[in-house]
Amino acid sequence: MVENLARNLVQLKQDFTVAYEGNSHIQEVLPLTKSDLFPLDENHLELLHEFAKKNPIYYNSYEQTIGKVPCLVYEGDINEYWLNSISHGASYQPFYPTWILSAYVISLAAKNLGFKEVLDIGSGDGRIAYCARILGLETFSIEVEESLVNLQKLITISSRIDFNPKCADAVEFNYSDLNLQSPVFFIGGLAQMGGDILANSIIEKLNEIPDIKKNTGITFAGTYSKKYFPGTMSEGMSEGGWKTVIEKNNLKVIQTIILPTVWTFDQPVDTPYIFTKFQ
Ligand SMILES: C[S@@+](CC[C@H](N)C(=O)[O-])C[C@H]1O[C@@H](n2cnc3c(N)ncnc32)[C@H](O)[C@@H]1O
Repeated sequence: MVENLARNLVQLKQDFTVAYEGNSHIQEVLPLTKSDLFPLDENHLELLHEFAKKNPIYYNSYEQTIGKVPCLVYEGDINEYWLNSISHGASYQPFYPTWILSAYVISLAAKNLGFKEVLDIGSGDGRIAYCARILGLETFSIEVEESLVNLQKLITISSRIDFNPKCADAVEFNYSDLNLQSPVFFIGGLAQMGGDILANSIIEKLNEIPDIKKNTGITFAGTYSKKYFPGTMSEGMSEGGWKTVIEKNNLKVIQTIILPTVWTFDQPVDTPYIFTKFQ
């Protein structure tokens, strides 16, 4: 189910890129109904639309059939939040969201892999934690930028889905207080842009919590775009730029899912989400 959903979503995004005639700062699509290509729980699909409708970064939506899939196109602007997010001394990654349906697919993958808690590290507007919560997982949505956390709280109140927004520097956060059993950490950013600092600091903190690592997963957002690997050959690009962190920390890749994100809208290859576990 996860693999098929991901493949169909990548195709939908490619068709949408060709069909889109607007000039909005960001844009994404959500299918309007359950279908063979998108056999989603209808209640969950409704809640994904709720997330977009309650989210002030989107200012417009309209119906359009993309390929054969009737969709709602959402247009938005993240400029103000992007600027706020780079103003922090503790910021290791500016705000760029994944697509809402991509957030749902990776949350579903986390659930299928048996994880019980999702920690969205650098959670932006909270979409990964929101999706994990509607799938019944326990969530912690950690974001350093206050305006984004306020936005998350707004969505929490208006949707009545409490995905647990926390305004904190993920590098300083005390994870041992959370009593985690089987957590997966989603690292919100590319290795080349500072995501590696977030990942390494969290792994160091996990070293201090007895017995936690054997049940813990780390999921990295990678890239295969050559612009992030100037002058390097395919070896440097392997694991989407996370090879060094994976090897150094004795992590094992258990699944890779390629999905659309806002930052790959105009790119032919989408974002690999690399699920790893400690060996
Ligand atoms: C690329 S965005 C990812 C957002 C979200 N995870 C998603 O996929 O839609 C990265 C986010 O990490 C946040 N961030 C950067 N450094 C952080 C830190 N030290 N602690 C917590 N959040 C941080 C930024 O403010 C930004 O919102």
